Amino acid sequence: MGIEIRTRRASDATEPLVLLDAHAKAPLFRQLYDSLRHAIIAGRLRPGARLPAARTLGADLHLSRNTVDQAYDQLHAEGYLDRHPRRGTFVSRTTPDQVLQAAPPPPVDRPRLYAAESAPSRRMLSSRGRAIAEIVLPAGVNALTLPRPFRPGVPALDAFPIQLWARLSARHWRRASRRHLAYGHSAGYQPLRDAIAQQVSAARGVRCTAEQVIIVGGSQQALALATRLLLERGDQVWMEEPGYVGARAAFIASGASVIAVPVDDQGLDVEAGEQLAPTARMAFVTPSHQHPLGVVMTVARRLALLDWARRADAWILEDDYDSEIRYHGRPLPAMQGLDDDGRVIYLGTFSKTVFPALRLGYVIVPRPLVEAFSTGRLIVDRHSSVVEQAVLADFIAEGHYARHLRRMRALYVERQEALLDALAPFHELIDVPATRSGLNVLAWLPPGVDDRRVAAAAAAIGIEAPPLSPFAQHALPRGALILNFSGHDVEALRSAAKKLGTVLAESVGRAHEQRALGA
Ligand SMILES: Cc1ncc(COP(=O)(O)O)c(C=O)c1O
Repeated sequence: MGIEIRTRRASDATEPLVLLDAHAKAPLFRQLYDSLRHAIIAGRLRPGARLPAARTLGADLHLSRNTVDQAYDQLHAEGYLDRHPRRGTFVSRTTPDQVLQAAPPPPVDRPRLYAAESAPSRRMLSSRGRAIAEIVLPAGVNALTLPRPFRPGVPALDAFPIQLWARLSARHWRRASRRHLAYGHSAGYQPLRDAIAQQVSAARGVRCTAEQVIIVGGSQQALALATRLLLERGDQVWMEEPGYVGARAAFIASGASVIAVPVDDQGLDVEAGEQLAPTARMAFVTPSHQHPLGVVMTVARRLALLDWARRADAWILEDDYDSEIRYHGRPLPAMQGLDDDGRVIYLGTFSKTVFPALRLGYVIVPRPLVEAFSTGRLIVDRHSSVVEQAVLADFIAEGHYARHLRRMRALYVERQEALLDALAPFHELIDVPATRSGLNVLAWLPPGVDDRRVAAAAAAIGIEAPPLSPFAQHALPRGALILNFSGHDVEALRSAAKKLGTVLAESVGRAHEQRALGA
């Protein structure tokens, strides 16, 4: 099949395959390339069509053979032309544009794709990928909406000193040196590591040097690193029951076998843990303020846990997520300070004390683990933003952090009181003990009332009051709602409490009726 070629001098009206303009800025080889490519895409040069030899085409167009070769080479390199040594040059049967313009993939049928027994998931996801895809996160954890009352775990974002933060950031950007723009160290920005080491030893009795402090993207990343570095698939892990869903998800994702160890009014029941899984490899605890029950782990239990870890050669992950937000007296120092055996890995976060979107936290590891955690962080995402780390380091070192915490404690006392007062009229429906620390209270429902149902009814009218049950692997003796008070002003809390009261009256009333009918 021949190829019809014209230049600007051509006089008839049909569109030529090749248009060359000797006065145009673009070089002639580029004009030839554009014309041929355009003709291929438009279908005027059909797949499989044979092109003239470079010398012939050059002669027809008054171009050098080299110019034609250059255009052919480029089209060949991009996949528009095929070249066969003795047969010549042809339009490719599959052009790059056909590939690029392929129809978008059909919408993903999520349940089929991820269901454990479906064939596609077996091929598409690793066994670890399947375990992750099957994790069901509680409502609100990955929400796109701004937090509404009473979404748990949210600090007072309305009271955060944004102007001050902006000033500290501007100062760093103004004098941003190459140090802030180049890759940083995966263990973190040194002045921030220094500031944290000082802060946790003074405030939490943690014994460490700055070298043991590894900066992470929030404690969730510390959990991911710890499970990846310290657990084999199938290893048993003691998990508080009920306990922090973020930790349980990280253990499941790593292929660990999660052992639910009950929490009583002294914290994790170490004896029960020893009976259930004496040779577990790790225990996860929130000793200073158990999440979600709020219990403080007694010294006797802490010592028992350390003793078990020594005997079992196990790790203890101590998540000290909100101990700096307390309203009465001094909390017990961190367990890490009692550990003489290098068993405790201490997790801290700025999500509650500064703001959660900052994604900065730290893990304090026994000295022999420093390199492994530092390299582990490097291969995941190298490190957190250096400027953000530098701003946070200043925020702490210049006393703003301590001042902000003092202000927040006073504000949270006020907000908690307002919430408890607003819920007082419903005391026959819920029992809401005050908390001495943290950002949430628990509203206990009457025995036999399903907390998931009540939470769903609240969600239907825009109130986020998550149920306690999903934090446990087994049925709990009594249901409760988790209510945050720190993240919303007094007016918003009062109004939401009123609406919650209406939902409670209806839901609890209905549960009682059903029980009466069933009895
Ligand atoms: C027990 C516990 N640990 C840690 C965190 C904070 O996680 P991150 O530092 O990843 O924001 C939370 C947040 O709700 C929590 O409840």
